[in-house]
Amino acid sequence: MSATPQGYASHSIHLTLNHQPRQLDVLPWTTLLDLLREQLDLVGSKKGCDHGQCGACTVLLNGKRVNACLTLAVMCDGADLVTIEGLASEEALHPLQAAFIKHDAFQCGYCTPGQICSAVGLIAEGRAGTPAEVQEMMSGNLCRCGAYGNIRAAIEEVLQNDSATQAEPQFVEVRA
Ligand code: FES
Ligand code: FES
Repeated sequence: MSATPQGYASHSIHLTLNHQPRQLDVLPWTTLLDLLREQLDLVGSKKGCDHGQCGACTVLLNGKRVNACLTLAVMCDGADLVTIEGLASEEALHPLQAAFIKHDAFQCGYCTPGQICSAVGLIAEGRAGTPAEVQEMMSGNLCRCGAYGNIRAAIEEVLQNDSATQAEPQFVEVRA
């Protein structure tokens, strides 16, 4: 714990962020979303509502999808955190990223990082088996452009491939 210039105590946390160990000093009221966007310049996670209603800030905390705007940064001590910036490898997109491109599953793109992180969490949960279940379990991620049909098509394709192979996600080669 250390004192900030304003005299407030900050807390030291250790976490794995996008596969890299990090030590960070955070104020007790700083949200994970503000930590990512304002302190770490990881602006892929979006601030749509800042109170848990839109899903634009969805990230993966210990493999589970959470709203970063409702999560305090100090709660992430010891966590494994993955944001949209950490999904692709250096050579290839994550299968969901490739599927979103293939199915044209975005218009303005503002909701897209949250949609993709949420879909990664959804598939890892292993509970969605039908299009109706995908729709219900993605209902926390809003799209003001109304691209829901194409978003669902992208997720369903990856879900079906995942179910068929029962394997680790296959990365898809990026083509120019
Ligand atoms: Fe977090 Fe909307 S910004 S749910
Ligand atoms: Fe614009 Fe979803 S693509 S908000």
